[in-house]
Amino acid sequence: MIKKNTPIDYEAVHAKIKESGLDDLGQGTIREIVKIVNKVEAETGEKYIRMEMGVPGLEPPEIGINAEIAALKRGVASKYPMIEGVPELKKEVSRFIKMFLDIDVSEEGCMPTVGSMQGAMAAFLVANRTDHNKKGTLFIDPGFPVQKQQCQVLGHEYESFDVYDYRGKKLRDKLESYLKTGTVSSILYSNPNNPAWICFTDEELRIIGEMANKYDVIVIEDLAYFGMDFRKDYSHPGVPPFQPTVAKYTDNYIFLISSSKAFSYAGQRVGTIAISDKLFQRRYPDLKRYYATDGFGYSMIYGALYALSSGVTHSAQYGLAAMLKAANDGKYNFVDSVKVYGERAKRMKKLFLENGFKIVYDTDIDEPIADGFYFTFSYPGMSGSELLEKLLYYGISAISLAITGSNHSEGLRACVSQIQESQFKDLEYRLKRFHEDFGQ
Ligand SMILES: Cc1ncc(COP(=O)(O)O)c(C=O)c1O
Repeated sequence: MIKKNTPIDYEAVHAKIKESGLDDLGQGTIREIVKIVNKVEAETGEKYIRMEMGVPGLEPPEIGINAEIAALKRGVASKYPMIEGVPELKKEVSRFIKMFLDIDVSEEGCMPTVGSMQGAMAAFLVANRTDHNKKGTLFIDPGFPVQKQQCQVLGHEYESFDVYDYRGKKLRDKLESYLKTGTVSSILYSNPNNPAWICFTDEELRIIGEMANKYDVIVIEDLAYFGMDFRKDYSHPGVPPFQPTVAKYTDNYIFLISSSKAFSYAGQRVGTIAISDKLFQRRYPDLKRYYATDGFGYSMIYGALYALSSGVTHSAQYGLAAMLKAANDGKYNFVDSVKVYGERAKRMKKLFLENGFKIVYDTDIDEPIADGFYFTFSYPGMSGSELLEKLLYYGISAISLAITGSNHSEGLRACVSQIQESQFKDLEYRLKRFHEDFGQ
């Protein structure tokens, strides 16, 4: 039972949860939780510790804004951009991949997308149609729920497993158990991972790459949090260490590189998709069922990307090109700009642990997990749904791991990006009150 003198007015929270019509908050989507919290905040005037939505909490870089303004003043708004992207951006994406992943991808294979969301959609549209015997995507979970929704709306089949119990060498047999059916077209994971912030080791990426080669499967590597494993310094162009990637071990890959988090540019909806040179040139006769040619790269540009949005906002492409150029030239350290998330996570995790909470995904095999954009937590004896609901009365919002393909349905995901310095006192007080009320 929740005591009625909770930090946020009990009746107000109770009423808004009821109004939402959700029987089980643990099944609520991110946007549904956002809506409930917005309403409670509006009614009570109280500010929540908002950890439910993965939005950047930092200002966008001036370099990007200025380049966009200059492009608009040059008159690009009246002109359709080329679907494959403006040459300046293609060049800088290819350079960025060389500088920060140490991988060669030709400019031809680097295209802008309307955020990585569209990049994933386009990747599914082509990768999952290369072979009529194959059916869809294998997600290495936990993961970003909307990508499964994309498969669903496309009518593609998908499978998934929680990688928690299959880290390191164990990943090989687990992957093989799915791939040996011969029906998997693509594998998708994010690294660093949303929601768990686990980071695959080189050994794990090698296993994924080797399996992709053995079963001729396309790996969609989602680098939405590029360079943000702050345990290592991936911030210097052309200098090791580089952001680890499956591309060291296979040519069957597509990168999704988002600007939303690493460059705090979510609002402009501009990201990039990059296809390995070999895959770009490869011919799949079965693609002709959907596209004019059997070429993978050609189908991506003049089939999928054309049909989806006929290119990406002209000015946003110049904005991203300018930021990437500055990063590639060593003039803008994009990793340092977002390191504050790691520092925030470290302090927040400490407060949770001091008040009886546990971190759910807590290691990368034998190493403590990095501090970054997200972390996962649970409270002993409580299900995720229960915890999510109870925390709302204490002014803390998060989302349930149950919607991310995690087997750890007792856990919640916290996103640190929205938490301000001025809120740490509130967080500490609210967690303390929670622990006093529910601790054994
Ligand atoms: C793992 C992952 N992939 C993709 C995206 C979407 O990125 P974008 O804003 O570039 O569409 C996100 C955003 O939260 C994400 O967490």
